[in-house]
Amino acid sequence: MLTASAYETVKETIRATPRTWLVTGAAGFIGSNLLETLLSLNQRVIGLDNFATGHRQNLQAALDDAGQSHGWIRRSRSDLESLYCFIEGDIRNPETCRQAMTWQSGSRSLPVDYVLHQAALGSVPRSIEDPIATNQANIDGFLNMLVAARDAKVRRFVTPRAVPPMAITPDCPRSRTRSASHCHPMPSPST
Ligand SMILES: NC(=O)c1ccc[n+]([C@@H]2O[C@H](COP(=O)([O-])OP(=O)(O)OC[C@H]3O[C@@H](n4cnc5c(N)ncnc54)[C@H](O)[C@@H]3O)[C@@H](O)[C@H]2O)c1
Repeated sequence: MLTASAYETVKETIRATPRTWLVTGAAGFIGSNLLETLLSLNQRVIGLDNFATGHRQNLQAALDDAGQSHGWIRRSRSDLESLYCFIEGDIRNPETCRQAMTWQSGSRSLPVDYVLHQAALGSVPRSIEDPIATNQANIDGFLNMLVAARDAKVRRFVTPRAVPPMAITPDCPRSRTRSASHCHPMPSPST
């Protein structure tokens, strides 16, 4: 587990070297928080989402929160656009995944350095109800992203653990507006 001081050190390291990041599932819970944090660290971020379960207001909240904590409210729209772009697209489409590996802003074009892959269809009941749709997004889409990232020679591809190591209670946050204090790490089998 990362301590608070180690987390601050990581953030300072990231802030010191602006890179280009692709966040899939950017309109979801984790993706929008990643978007906010990366923008607040002055990173270039491409967000990708098809809004299957994500929300446009999560994107707006991420931009607003990054702006408030880092003075973007006083920055011009073009400053904001120089760091962020959004692709409304579907990872089930290999061509969309391929295109998302390049940052485009005006005449400027940069390869993606890091992929944070959060796009997925959650919910075990949904996967039982419609296993084909879940498989297409979570397996085929994931593979499309891996192939596109490999072909684009990205530095790192990061994806979450499939099974949340959290006890999901009715109070556990699933939206940006609720605190994470209601979630409790599950005890490991050895404790
Ligand atoms: N939230 C947690 O506590 C938790 C814990 C461990 C692992 N995870 C995993 O992390 C990932 C993200 O979790 P989350 O809570 O942010 O989920 P979420 O449902 O809030 O976000 C997923 C996002 O992916 C998008 N998406 C779905 N299918 C897509 C497709 N075909 N193309 C493009 N975008 C698509 C959705 O619209 C949504 O915005 C999931 O894989 C989840 O299983 C989550």
